[in-house]
Amino acid sequence: MSKKIRAAITGVGGYVPDYVLTNKELEKMVETNDEWIVSRTGIKERRILKGDNQGVSVMGIAAVKELIAKTGVDPKEIDLILFATVTADMTFPASANIVATAVGATNAFSYDISAACSGFLYGLATGASFIESGRYKKVVVIGGDKMSAIIDYTDRSTCIIFGDGAGCVLLEPTEEDAGVMDSILRSDGSGEGYLHMKAGGSRLPASHDTVDKRLHYVYQEGSAVFKFAVTNMAEVAAQVAERNHLTADSIQWLVPHQANKRIIDATASRVGVKDERVMMNIERYGNTTSGTIPLLLWDYEKKLKKGDNLILAAFGGGFTWGAIYVKWAYNPK
Ligand code: UT7
Repeated sequence: MSKKIRAAITGVGGYVPDYVLTNKELEKMVETNDEWIVSRTGIKERRILKGDNQGVSVMGIAAVKELIAKTGVDPKEIDLILFATVTADMTFPASANIVATAVGATNAFSYDISAACSGFLYGLATGASFIESGRYKKVVVIGGDKMSAIIDYTDRSTCIIFGDGAGCVLLEPTEEDAGVMDSILRSDGSGEGYLHMKAGGSRLPASHDTVDKRLHYVYQEGSAVFKFAVTNMAEVAAQVAERNHLTADSIQWLVPHQANKRIIDATASRVGVKDERVMMNIERYGNTTSGTIPLLLWDYEKKLKKGDNLILAAFGGGFTWGAIYVKWAYNPK
């Protein structure tokens, strides 16, 4: 009997822009202060992609180029590139198409995935399914957002949270007991009203009026989203752990979406994972939406060992949420 093919993560790439937007600088832009931001969110600074004509693909390209350099994969052998983002360069074509051509992945097909902060998890599960089908051997999944393009820097309740960045992984088939082991993905469209961008889509296309009314920015009812996030992200992480018989002792790493340190702490406490095993970079990058989870893998890659059990978990606009159990497939190189 042939063994089950799983999708192993065989490399990680990442990119964050150089410009650092500190809490101190935000204090000059809106009525806020470092103490409030740190105590309510855990964020100290975030990165911003500056310059004209710089779309999210700029960060996706840099991340994938780093992945190619690190893994030595021939770009022509990449079958598929998925880009999870809500800040694509344009409504169409997909930013994944732009990345594929820029990195020389001339034999790949490519498309974007829109699932807000859960985008990377949706992309990882989708990419893994292509590998598990047996038809595709090399899939790149990118998660990234240029949130600064859709943030209102006069709104103190959203501008302090978000930042820009992108990370990516390479998926390849393995017959070993490793890779993407299980996933639970959920969505609930009734959450639309709490977190969305009102204009610029087909329902309310851009006009003078939509610009005048500042409708092209993230609208968030923070405390309502917080309540849904805290419950659902913690629950789904616990569910995927329990159904794979993982206890707190057998989970080496919790990899939580970085929206708010208080949500991360609640998820860690529900799963029973101690602080030192919770990946965290919110203090340096803020909430990069689809970028948070691959950027965590990028930051912590050197600490990960073959066989480590990782629980990835996210919650975001839609609402969308989910958790994925990954068994790490390689030792630090
Ligand atoms: O990434 C995917 C989904 N997003 C999330 O998961 C985000 C979830 N939500 C949150 O992280 C939090 O709700 C926020 C960080 C956005 C806000 O924190 P909060 O503790 O929920 O604050 P709040 O909105 O309930 O506001 C509490 C107070 C208000 O003042 P009053 O009405 O009590 O006088 C706000 O006006 O804090 C005030 N406030 C601020 N004060 C200083 C709101 N933003 C700020 C600020 N600086 N930046």
